[in-house]
Amino acid sequence: MALKDVQAVILAAGKSSRFKTGKTKLVEKLCGHEMILYPTKLFTSLNVPVSMVVGFQKELIEETIEKHFKDSVLFVEQTEQKGTGDAIKTSQPTWTKDHILVMNGDMPLVTPEIVETLYAKHKAQDAAISFVTAHNCEPTASHYGRVVQDDNSVAIVEAKEFAGDIGENCCINAGVYLIKRTFLEQSMEKLTQSSVTSEWYITDLVKIASDQKLTVATTSAPFDKIRGINTFKELWAAEQILKAEIVKYWMDHGVRFSIAHNVQIDRGVTIGAGSSIESGAQLLGSTIVGKNCSIGAFSLIKNTTIADNTTIHAHTIVSDTTIGSNVEVGPFSHVWQDSVIQDGAAVGNFVEIKRSTIGKNSKAKHLTYLGDAVVGSSVNIGAGTITCNYDGTEKHRTRIEDGVFVGSNNTLVAPVTLKKKSFTAAGSTITTEVPEGALAIARERQVNKDGYADKIRNKKTDAEQEKSSPFLGAVKSKSFENNQ
Ligand code: UD1
Ligand code: CA
Repeated sequence: MALKDVQAVILAAGKSSRFKTGKTKLVEKLCGHEMILYPTKLFTSLNVPVSMVVGFQKELIEETIEKHFKDSVLFVEQTEQKGTGDAIKTSQPTWTKDHILVMNGDMPLVTPEIVETLYAKHKAQDAAISFVTAHNCEPTASHYGRVVQDDNSVAIVEAKEFAGDIGENCCINAGVYLIKRTFLEQSMEKLTQSSVTSEWYITDLVKIASDQKLTVATTSAPFDKIRGINTFKELWAAEQILKAEIVKYWMDHGVRFSIAHNVQIDRGVTIGAGSSIESGAQLLGSTIVGKNCSIGAFSLIKNTTIADNTTIHAHTIVSDTTIGSNVEVGPFSHVWQDSVIQDGAAVGNFVEIKRSTIGKNSKAKHLTYLGDAVVGSSVNIGAGTITCNYDGTEKHRTRIEDGVFVGSNNTLVAPVTLKKKSFTAAGSTITTEVPEGALAIARERQVNKDGYADKIRNKKTDAEQEKSSPFLGAVKSKSFENNQ
């Protein structure tokens, strides 16, 4: 549906005082995206231009929006937070279209269908103002504005001013309004301050229209879709809904979740069909998982691309990395900072890979650190091997070319290169280039001293006996005396 004669104003200047963090709630994340991105995305997906009223910590909000929407949002500043009525007034210089769609910035679950339904009714009834309602009689929704109407009038009464029974009056104001620009312009001067809170309310526009016998239209939406977020409890509740939607979406696309309720899948993530996600796994940011992959229990994968048929074993952390197909990573691996693990490679138990490339079919399976390393294909890195990539001032590269075999417990002091198909002996400290096809042994030669072990053992036994029993020492010395 084209909403050509509509522009949106998102109210995002409020102080978020009920969050009690001293920080604007609008940059709190739900499934990886800041709260304020949701309404912005909603309107841009409908091709509706967006103005945003900012004030409290506006830099934080503007920075977040700019990162994702470049220059497509017009900001206006509400210098003092005097209520939603004052906020919409602040946006007046940006009004150009015939209808102004106003929405609170703290309702991330609203769908395009809700907006389209509102628009259709608003136009069909030629309303001065239209707004979305929902049904909720629970005490937990007592802070919402209530829609109070009879045959002749309709108004929204704010929670702090509502004297009726919320159990009987279950129609609440969602916080999404579509208003004719002409009516809005005429009504700005008619808004008055609440005697209870001293705030200006956008919701008073409904009574202003009703009093003038202008058409007020409403559409209803499920409460779960219009939830406003004022507290961490409400944030948690909304995120549960989003999380479940995301997981169900991927289930519909052929993804198996062993325990669906404790995984975290961000909105920007994609998962290929035939993949399985184990208990407690977190797929975050812009992660892409290919087809037929397995993501092990309690692993955390962030901003990472994984090709098909790859297995990430349990308790593995991977970020900002590209992983090929038929790769195995983990358990208990840490792969990060622009690393690349190519097809068929294996990164195993307690292995850290940082800013490194591991070539095709190469293996580093146990207790290894590879930092700033370029590892070719079909390389074997022995257990306990580390790159010394940092000299205290600068980082240096280690190059391990195709087909190299690095023995166990090697210390590779960068910058250093191990040329093609070379070998290094176990326990070596490699400080200079190993030529192609050579074997490098860089450790102390072993010395065997025949019979020495027993000598040491006997010496030790005597000394230990004396130490553990001073009495024995006394007896000994006595017998020595007797022998005298
Ligand atoms: C508002 C509605 C209430 C509705 C509820 C739905 C009013 C007066 N009340 O209440 O009827 O049921 O939403 O969730 O509108 N803001 C500003 N400047 C301000 C104050 C607020 O930009 O001076 C912004 C906030 O950042 C927020 C939005 O307006 O995004 C709504 O403000 P909030 O304080 O959350 O309103 P509610 O009390 O939830
Ligand atoms: Ca709110």
